[in-house]
Amino acid sequence: MPAMTLMPPAEALPVEIPALAQPVTLAYIAASILFIVACSGLSKHETALAGNIAGAVGMAIACAAAILLVLRSDPAHGALVTGLLIALAIGLGGVIGIWRALRVAMTGMPQLIAIFNGLVGLAAVVVGYNSYIAPEASAAALGGFHFGEVFVSVFVGAVTFTGSIVAGLKLNGTIPGRPILLPARNQLNLAALLVCLALGVFFVMRSDHSAPAWIALLAMTLIGLALGVHLVIAIGGGDMPVVVSIMNSYSGWASAFTGFLVSNDLLIITGAIVGSSGAYLSYLMCEAMNRSFLNVLLGGFGTDASTAQAAQASPEGEIHELDAEAVADLLLEAKKVVITPGYGMAVAQAQYPVAALVEDLVDRGVEVVFAIHPVAGRLPGHMNVLLAEAKVPYDIVLEMDEVNDSFSEVDAVLVIGANDTVNPAAEEPGSPIAGMPVLKVWEAQRVVVFKRSMATGYAGVQNPLFFKPNASMLFGDAKDTVEAIDRAVEIKRPRTRA
Ligand code: TAP
Repeated sequence: MPAMTLMPPAEALPVEIPALAQPVTLAYIAASILFIVACSGLSKHETALAGNIAGAVGMAIACAAAILLVLRSDPAHGALVTGLLIALAIGLGGVIGIWRALRVAMTGMPQLIAIFNGLVGLAAVVVGYNSYIAPEASAAALGGFHFGEVFVSVFVGAVTFTGSIVAGLKLNGTIPGRPILLPARNQLNLAALLVCLALGVFFVMRSDHSAPAWIALLAMTLIGLALGVHLVIAIGGGDMPVVVSIMNSYSGWASAFTGFLVSNDLLIITGAIVGSSGAYLSYLMCEAMNRSFLNVLLGGFGTDASTAQAAQASPEGEIHELDAEAVADLLLEAKKVVITPGYGMAVAQAQYPVAALVEDLVDRGVEVVFAIHPVAGRLPGHMNVLLAEAKVPYDIVLEMDEVNDSFSEVDAVLVIGANDTVNPAAEEPGSPIAGMPVLKVWEAQRVVVFKRSMATGYAGVQNPLFFKPNASMLFGDAKDTVEAIDRAVEIKRPRTRA
């Protein structure tokens, strides 16, 4: 491949954007502020909708400004051709995006997010190669630094792309969710990193388009793609949410590097926001599961002998079964009830009957609150979104820490489709989920567990809660059982209010 001469410095080129630079810069600043407002809004239920709207408006402004900039600064191809190409890309992407978003169930959201993260990684790889072959004038002027940017962008993008695709396939159940471990995998990962580092140093030192530089870039891309698969395939069980969040963070950093490559400040800002918020979310989720980042990435959760043994062993004891009528009696006798929802509520789409039951109990003088575990369901905030959808008042939806020390004062707990998040085995050393903070529902007077069978939860760990003397099982689909209880409540104590 012939060596390409670098383009002259930016100031020597007839760049035709000064007249446009000011409005575009203003639009980028406005969009950046709106993205920050969106992040802040999304951190609370009450302001989440406004936050979402701020983010969407910011993105619309950003897209309009970027399109305007491209149209005006690409006279070589003519505004019409460039405009048509952009319209085609937006049209195609928009149709596929709307089609997927309309079809995806709430329970399939993490997979969708994982695929989106992967696409951002792929985009970083493609833009990296494009910027290597035909750099922007301002980027080319940076010389070796630009080659470093290309290398890092392609590497982060490649790891994010395959890592996210594997995470999506695992969450979807297309490939086994359990960790798949190669022998000496940590050494393999370290070797891959060191080889990429050496290739990167070589690539930057060459700073040209010679055959050896191309080989270094292509070799690193292949290693990065393989590393993404290898890193994520070795993680499983309860650690998957953290992996998706880490990939989300990587996709942000990949975008930020892409922003450097195409000299787009807004992309750098947005990428940095996504990268740092994803990293912080991963940290919070690690805290919630009492695990460290390194432990998640290197742990191979659920693979050692003790884990396998613990997962297979059935806790001793008998279970006590209740029907909907009996649960209705229990609830009507109770003063204080706590509901701990989990993934099963999402599967059954039971949030609407649960909200109706809560309203009926509150009308009959029973105090009801929800206790939400930070990793209940399959994505951060999963339960909060479902309950908000069913119009449950925010002030009765409490975090785990707000409730966990007061279960002894609770008359009845309804565990609706939750399992791992209420598993007392987490308090026993040697258990696969040892150390994960859980809702101590067994400390309440009575506990009713709503599920369809005695199957384990996501982490594949048996749950001794089901065999506690104060616990009862209500088998069946959560939507059907909750509706049956609500009907029984209305019959046993008809509404007296007007
Ligand atoms: P899980 O431990 O997954 O348990 C859900 C339970 O719901 C199952 O035991 C299942 O039992 C029951 N269920 C399923 N469909 C049902 C239906 N239609 N009606 C009634 N019950 C039904 O749920 P969890 O307590 O929410 O814990 C979440 C787990 O997922 C944790 O291990 C967490 O680490 C992991 N995870 C979380 C996330 C995030 S970010 N939240 C992401 C990925 C993974 P039956 O089959 O017997 O009905």
